[in-house]
Amino acid sequence: MKVLYSVVILAVIATVQATLTDEQKAKLKQHQDECLKSFPADKLLLEKARKGDLADNKTLKDYLYCVIEKSGFITPDGKIQTAVLETKLASVTAAENAKKLVAKCTSQKNLDKKESAEAIYKCVYNETKFSLI
Ligand SMILES: *[C@@H]1O[C@H](CO)[C@@H](O)[C@H](O)[C@H]1NC(C)=O
Ligand SMILES: *[C@@H]1O[C@H](CO)[C@@H](O)[C@H](O)[C@H]1NC(C)=O
Repeated sequence: MKVLYSVVILAVIATVQATLTDEQKAKLKQHQDECLKSFPADKLLLEKARKGDLADNKTLKDYLYCVIEKSGFITPDGKIQTAVLETKLASVTAAENAKKLVAKCTSQKNLDKKESAEAIYKCVYNETKFSLI
């Protein structure tokens, strides 16, 4: 009986922890690969960045911007696409939380597009432990 309960509890946890669909994962991987070709960020720095520790390295930041733009969160002329971001966040957090997060993570004004990308990445990671890059 105990074992059965554990299995049920694990199954419930697994469903609550929403993750990306396979298609979303494949897209992200494709963007990552393309951006790494243009901006060959150091592997170790990138690994750290994906755990929320973003080094002050230009190649790494260019890579970050590249993935954020390719993912459609920012247009090439620097407009933040809140709807696209919200859709993505809704797959890693509760839908009602996604809306709040988008508002919070895009609230800083007077940033250039690269600074915006960085702010979004940092805020999203801090709030969800999900790395957009
Ligand atoms: C940033 O990382 C690149 C490798 O991706 C390296 O060549 C460069 O020296 C680094 N720059 C700084 C300032 O650490
Ligand atoms: C990081 O997340 C915590 C908890 O959600 C929040 O209290 C804090 O203000 C956030 N920090 C930044 C820099 O967003």
